[in-house]
Amino acid sequence: LFGFKTNKVSGYFEPITPSKEDKLILPKGYKYDVIAALDDVINKAGEKFGDGSDYNAYFPINGSNSRGLLVNNHEYTGVFSIGPVDGKMTPEQVQKNLYYQGMSVIEVFRDENGTWKMDTTSNYARRINGFTNFALTGPAKGTAAVGGASTVQGTFANCSGGVTLWNTVLSCEENFTETAEASNLNVTHYGWVVEIDPFNKSYLKKHTALGRFNHENTAMGLTADGRVVVYMGDDKKDACVYKFISKGKFDPLKGRGNSALLEDGTLYVANLKSGKWLPVTIEAVQKVINDSKFKAPFGVSTKRDDLLKKYQTQADVVVYCQEAALLVGGTPTDRPEDIEISPFDNTVFICHTNNDIHGNIHGHITRIFESGNDLGALEFDFEIFAAGGRQSGFSSPDNLAFDSNGNLWVVTDISSGSQNKGVHKPFMNNGLFVIPTSGPSQGTALQFASGPVECELTGPYFTPDEKTLFLSIQHPGEETSDLNNPTSRWPHRPGDKKARAGVVAISGFKLG
Ligand code: FEO
Ligand code: CA
Ligand code: CA
Ligand code: CA
Repeated sequence: LFGFKTNKVSGYFEPITPSKEDKLILPKGYKYDVIAALDDVINKAGEKFGDGSDYNAYFPINGSNSRGLLVNNHEYTGVFSIGPVDGKMTPEQVQKNLYYQGMSVIEVFRDENGTWKMDTTSNYARRINGFTNFALTGPAKGTAAVGGASTVQGTFANCSGGVTLWNTVLSCEENFTETAEASNLNVTHYGWVVEIDPFNKSYLKKHTALGRFNHENTAMGLTADGRVVVYMGDDKKDACVYKFISKGKFDPLKGRGNSALLEDGTLYVANLKSGKWLPVTIEAVQKVINDSKFKAPFGVSTKRDDLLKKYQTQADVVVYCQEAALLVGGTPTDRPEDIEISPFDNTVFICHTNNDIHGNIHGHITRIFESGNDLGALEFDFEIFAAGGRQSGFSSPDNLAFDSNGNLWVVTDISSGSQNKGVHKPFMNNGLFVIPTSGPSQGTALQFASGPVECELTGPYFTPDEKTLFLSIQHPGEETSDLNNPTSRWPHRPGDKKARAGVVAISGFKLG
């Protein structure tokens, strides 16, 4: 039995073993309720829950641990996999694809029997999707680099995210290109960090100062002198790790007014060889490309003459951020996914999920030690905190969440086509693991959950009292080729012919 204790709950669980079953399996004594799944009606207006559930964030209503708003990201839809065969979407598929991506805000509650449910009479419940308008902020707003736009249509490819210090949600646009192109939308309007306020329908922003790339997540903290820091992963093979530091300081009395801090500051990229955070600014880019001895770094194929024309302002830098980051010396890494800041020591944990180009098949979790434990430091060193593989028992780490005792809760993302095959056989279906970050079991992964067939478990998020863990079940049955014989039917609702993505609430965590 693995005993774990947080500041609020403690418990024991017998780690489970990997499974191939089309079930969400939990240790003895724990249970789950399906709160919402694809196509469920979420409100009185009849809006429907989206597809591809990913990030979750819970916002108590009146401080409650049993009623609140749950924000869920919808990363992608299944419409690509249901034809037409030439790969071009029909107009109806284009519409559905935009509708079912984005985000859902739903109201959830635990009833008198201890079952978590969705309250579809909620006045807050709503969809945010590919048709919702967003205001751009920051250096690219209204510039030629985004076609002069100050507002843009929609958000999609919403992967992971984070909660701000002023209780809004940051949601990250990751693999946006396919949807943008299929929908004839300007691709420079996507690949940003989006901010929404779950309690306020009209607050919808895209913050260009945080750069445009394949955004996975945000992890927010404060520098020693009170400025806001946002760590971000760019989930692409050979892409970099970033942090943004605001110019101004956080003021708790200002509430959501602090959001302006995300419009003005400096974006940095990590160089893992020198242990330095390097500014991704127009000055830094121009310095590199103006050098007559300029040699294009790994990953940059644009000719120097074209680079000189391309980079004129900070808007150009944030819009073409992946290239700009490599130009200034950012280190290409193995697909940085989620990042979390340890609540105990300000060390920063990054899931480098995998990178088959370099034979890093099982991935690893990198831990960054900022100089002086100050998140505002511009120097750091790092270790590989845990490596995927047979010995650790997990492969391809993706989302992370800390409990209040410093245990890291890690979900895995072995791609559905690789699950239960080849070198991935021992891991079976994707799972949820608990890894202590201190003490005798430091770095040891204990399996807490196993997901249904071909799914990825995403978006682990605790209620403040840590008695409930929300978790998304993304793309169960993704490899289905015969609709009459789906590989998964999770959550196995009577009458359902295929699987649905959805969100569950896990309970069983008891007061210590
Ligand atoms: Fe959408 Fe990087 O996972
Ligand atoms: Ca992810
Ligand atoms: Ca996370
Ligand atoms: Ca992933």
